[in-house]
Amino acid sequence: MTAREPDASSDSPGRHTRHDVAPAGVSVNFTVNGVHHALTLDPRSTLLDVLREQLDLNGSKKGCDQGQCGACTVLIDSRRVVSCLTLAVMTDGKDVTTIEGLAKDGKLHPLQQAFIDHDAFQCGYCTPGQICSAAGLITEGKATTPDEIRELMSGNICRCGAYPNIVAAIQQAMRHT
Ligand code: FES
Ligand code: FES
Repeated sequence: MTAREPDASSDSPGRHTRHDVAPAGVSVNFTVNGVHHALTLDPRSTLLDVLREQLDLNGSKKGCDQGQCGACTVLIDSRRVVSCLTLAVMTDGKDVTTIEGLAKDGKLHPLQQAFIDHDAFQCGYCTPGQICSAAGLITEGKATTPDEIRELMSGNICRCGAYPNIVAAIQQAMRHT
């Protein structure tokens, strides 16, 4: 009995099958922190991965990568989103702001200053997401009381438990924006 020639149409290792062919790149034009980018991206790329791995903007953190911790929160057209669940191609024509883009003219954003003033972080891992989310919260204008701030910031987890300080910082920033 002679050995069979490998079947070129099979899924044997090392062979290209329809399962391991990368999809064609998609052109995406968007602005990040005021800088325009024209990229060709794998349509499966998340915004978080593009920010961190292609644009070297490492401020947005990858915590859970499942939309549950808020560490990756950024602003798209001033609305807060979790960038780990946002496909980068969805930002075509949009304006993305990350923690790196909040300070202006060498001056900290009022939220950044308030987080320092209120010692609203310990390890700091959640902080970029907390601040971006709080910026979106202030723009939404729906929270006026500490309870409302807590409720509408509940998507941002702080494993260090800095919540009282975070709420106090957001209240300060609300008074100055
Ligand atoms: S890393 Fe995106 S929500 Fe946790
Ligand atoms: S400051 Fe450590 S997780 Fe929030």
